[in-house]
Amino acid sequence: MTATDPVVILAIESSCDETSAAIVKDGHVLSNTIATQKVHERYGGVVPELASRAHMQHIVPVVDVAIKDAGITKEEITAVAFTQSPGLIGSLLVGACFAKSFAQARQLPLIAVHHMQAHVLAHFIDSKPEFPFLCLTVSGGHTQIVLCRDYLDMEVLGETIDDAAGEAFDKVAKMLGLPYPGGPLVDRYAQQGDPKRFKFPMSEMKDYAFSFSGIKTSVLYFLQAQRKIDPDFAAQNMNDICASVQYTIVNMLMAKLKKAARELNIRQVGIAGGVSANSGLRRAMTDAGEQHGWQVYIPRFEYCTDNAAMIGITGYHKYLNGQFTDLSVVPSARATWH
Ligand code: KG4
Ligand code: ZN
Repeated sequence: MTATDPVVILAIESSCDETSAAIVKDGHVLSNTIATQKVHERYGGVVPELASRAHMQHIVPVVDVAIKDAGITKEEITAVAFTQSPGLIGSLLVGACFAKSFAQARQLPLIAVHHMQAHVLAHFIDSKPEFPFLCLTVSGGHTQIVLCRDYLDMEVLGETIDDAAGEAFDKVAKMLGLPYPGGPLVDRYAQQGDPKRFKFPMSEMKDYAFSFSGIKTSVLYFLQAQRKIDPDFAAQNMNDICASVQYTIVNMLMAKLKKAARELNIRQVGIAGGVSANSGLRRAMTDAGEQHGWQVYIPRFEYCTDNAAMIGITGYHKYLNGQFTDLSVVPSARATWH
């Protein structure tokens, strides 16, 4: 391979309940295939054993479609990147084993990717924020404020000490009788509701830390009390409950993000992760941009939720930096930032 040959990365994401494969050529996404696992809906949350099994069923056809959609052959692939951590261990193992096997069979370099770092770098698929860049990563498993000094130079300034923001949306949705994942449904009802109708407490945490277990408990007690008076309370007030909960969660997220932007004097600010699809959060970001002179970045929807394109873009920067791994690499459910 010469310096002018294209870098064509096959990227694999399998950390939770989406099986995804992408082809990224010289930093450009040629394809991004995602198979969502419907099997978890009836259980009200992701069932790890079922997720691993579904990844096993999906991984080969998903990679096949990603290669075909990209209009390339597997012989053109020059490296393989995969999500090494964090995530559900059984799910990670499927992606890692596939990536290792593919790399071994075709004698290709292997790149291990941190899922949360990839959520941040999803911003660089379609746009080019300047450094330093501040990113609020909000998903079903994480809530973090990340200071991004360069593509691979990131620092977590603060994160949740308990539930993630997406988890809070999903748990409230479950209390309201909505199916998993409830976040998008809460968002939909919220758009018709009054966000100031019900008051829920905002947790006061130190520095850039978050806590979402308090709002979950207060919604639970609130619903229990109201249902004693009117068993149909939730159904009758769905829009206003969802709007009020969403308003509180978004305010908690934005308060910390504004604090970080102010204290670090950063105006390049973005949101990433599944919850960045939330309409209330997107509006709050646009408003904050106008108010504080931020340049606001929100990835395209398919790059907000779990996807392999973000693994591929991260893999590309690791490739350029010569950050490869050997076949002894193992996935890890938890991981330190690197
Ligand atoms: O990043 P992601 O796809 O997977 C994880 O790594 O967790 O995020 C999924 C989370 C779920 O909790 C889901 O309910 C939430 O993102 N979510 C939303 C919305 N769309 C997805 N939460 C609130 N409003 C939305 N529109
Ligand atoms: Zn994620």
